[in-house]
Amino acid sequence: MKVTVVGAGAVGASCAEYIAIKDFASEVVLVDIKEGFAEGKAMDLMQCATLNGFDTKITGVTNDYSKTAGSDIAVITSGIPRKPGMTREELIGINAGIVKTVATSLIKHSPNVILIVVSNPMDTMTYLAHKATGLPKNRIIGMGGALDSARFKYRLSEALNCPASDVEGMVIGGHSDTGMLPLTRLAVRNGVPVSEFLSDDVLAEVAEATKVGGATLTKLLGTSAWYAPGAAVSSLVQSIACDQKKMFPCSVMLDGEYGLSDICIGAPAILGKDGIEKIVEIELNDAEKAKLAESADGVRKTNDLLEGATA
Ligand code: 2OP
Repeated sequence: MKVTVVGAGAVGASCAEYIAIKDFASEVVLVDIKEGFAEGKAMDLMQCATLNGFDTKITGVTNDYSKTAGSDIAVITSGIPRKPGMTREELIGINAGIVKTVATSLIKHSPNVILIVVSNPMDTMTYLAHKATGLPKNRIIGMGGALDSARFKYRLSEALNCPASDVEGMVIGGHSDTGMLPLTRLAVRNGVPVSEFLSDDVLAEVAEATKVGGATLTKLLGTSAWYAPGAAVSSLVQSIACDQKKMFPCSVMLDGEYGLSDICIGAPAILGKDGIEKIVEIELNDAEKAKLAESADGVRKTNDLLEGATA
């Protein structure tokens, strides 16, 4: 199993590190445009192999896509990250051109690759990857919901004063501060609805903290987060690489599901060896349906900016 990670910045390197530590891939290729940067990160990571007990071979290359040939899965993290006060949408001008070039370069050398898009604004970059490559819709996945759901579970565990492993929950909708839809109604602690333990007001606070999870970290760190994004990507990669058929909310190209079409937005998906093996349609109540429709409007507005951005 060969995995390419494009962008050796904090998210890309952390993603490569988690993939290696989980030890399911034979090879990870890190690619970056900055001369020697991916090579350096790969060497540093390889020097953890005996310490962390993994056999995955990590190599780094400077912008040489021939070295990515035959990749089964490729992760696109390239582009500029958010700075404090910026929205993900503001990155579109620079990141659209980068994601388009990276996606087409990857396909050229790995025609059967499954792409995972992380670059922001992520739902729109996933949509762009579809339009730029024409790959079947099961082979392009946007990473956002897995991260947002991990942040939701963290916030729920704080409010419940319990370990996060006691909590299950999911965030669907767009990967933006206003577009996320944490499904508090369906969240549980060991099978018991969280509404049994937490008031509506607390649940609303948890949902709000989840939605601005990325912005909160950007303010604290001065740039966007990397540990949880890297871990979330590695979980998607593992589900595909090991044909685990786990369900994650991912940005997927919808074709009528949830009443939406020609849009990539967060919805639950089963990930296995073929990439997206099924988009799961859960029954939403009227308020949730309205929020998802509003979220989709926001994503479409950002998609509309693509024409100017990539021309
Ligand atoms: C985040 O939410 C980078 O979009 C990513 O942290």
